Amino acid sequence: MNLQDLIELKGKALAAAQAATDAAALETVRIEYLGRKGLLPKVMEELRNVAPEERPEFGKTANELKNELAELIKAKQSELAGSGTTAAGFDLSQPGQWQSLGTRHPITQITDRITRIFQTLGFTVADGPDIETVWNNFDALNTPADHPSRDEQDTFYLENGDLMRCHTSPVQVRYMMEHKPPVRIISPGRCYRRDTPDATHSANFHQVEGLYVDENVSLADLKGTLSYFARELMGPDVKIRFRPHFFPFTEPSVEVDFTCHVCHGKGCRVCKNSGWIEILGAGMVDPNVFNAVGYEDAKLTGFAFGMGIERITMILYGIHDIRNLYENDVRFLSQF
Ligand code: DAH
Repeated sequence: MNLQDLIELKGKALAAAQAATDAAALETVRIEYLGRKGLLPKVMEELRNVAPEERPEFGKTANELKNELAELIKAKQSELAGSGTTAAGFDLSQPGQWQSLGTRHPITQITDRITRIFQTLGFTVADGPDIETVWNNFDALNTPADHPSRDEQDTFYLENGDLMRCHTSPVQVRYMMEHKPPVRIISPGRCYRRDTPDATHSANFHQVEGLYVDENVSLADLKGTLSYFARELMGPDVKIRFRPHFFPFTEPSVEVDFTCHVCHGKGCRVCKNSGWIEILGAGMVDPNVFNAVGYEDAKLTGFAFGMGIERITMILYGIHDIRNLYENDVRFLSQF
């Protein structure tokens, strides 16, 4: 045996110990190399046959083989016993380290849920900017200059005359200006109003807009679509009702109520004993809106709707103060 053979033997011995997956296999390796009749004692006997100039290095390597192998076997033994410190200094008896998982913001979760429900009906998502022109936000939506929502008290105006959109409805205008009918879109996004923050108001909030334009779209289609939406969102027993209302951009316009999620229509404190909760605004697209965007085909009709995401989030999760949604307190957010 020469030095090269010994170096190879050392490599083989360490690899065999490393590969052992149970205590018995490890013991076999130990006996094979370090046992009284093992390979290492034989190597020591060989020492005198080794060429004199190789002898010091040979002796040193044989010692290394013995020490490193013994050490590795010891570390592996405690590793396999499931306690103590491994060769890599890794204490297997230590409890695992908990990595906290992030959560998605409740507003994001509900927005995604609403979006998915309409996507199953063939609606696609359209987007628009937070900064809008007065024309897109008001004029094209049949909202005259003397309408109260155009007041500086209610809407944030920018120095250049644009504004922070006060609803997601201008996305309807943008989309119709750029696409021919039929149109089937929803558009979630941020809105801005000059509201003083309290438990139910925020100057910055979120809406989802919906728009469906084609030939022969009727109020019954609107009702069918929103009934489906209500059941998917709240469960199979929910009922909806339409109440006549007014919006400049729809005619007729309705407010849509769902049966109360707490008492299921019987009447309770949450629904002020009415059994109903107001959820969204909707209606048939006003012909003046079609005129503004250049939809001239007289056979076109459409429905539109808009809903506040915070309100739905608060109802679904039983949140009583809208401000919780904006404070980014991890103790609150980690509950969702
Ligand atoms: N834009 C309305 C709002 O902010 C919500 C709305 C009502 C949107 C009726 C619509 C609609 O598209 O048809 O209160």
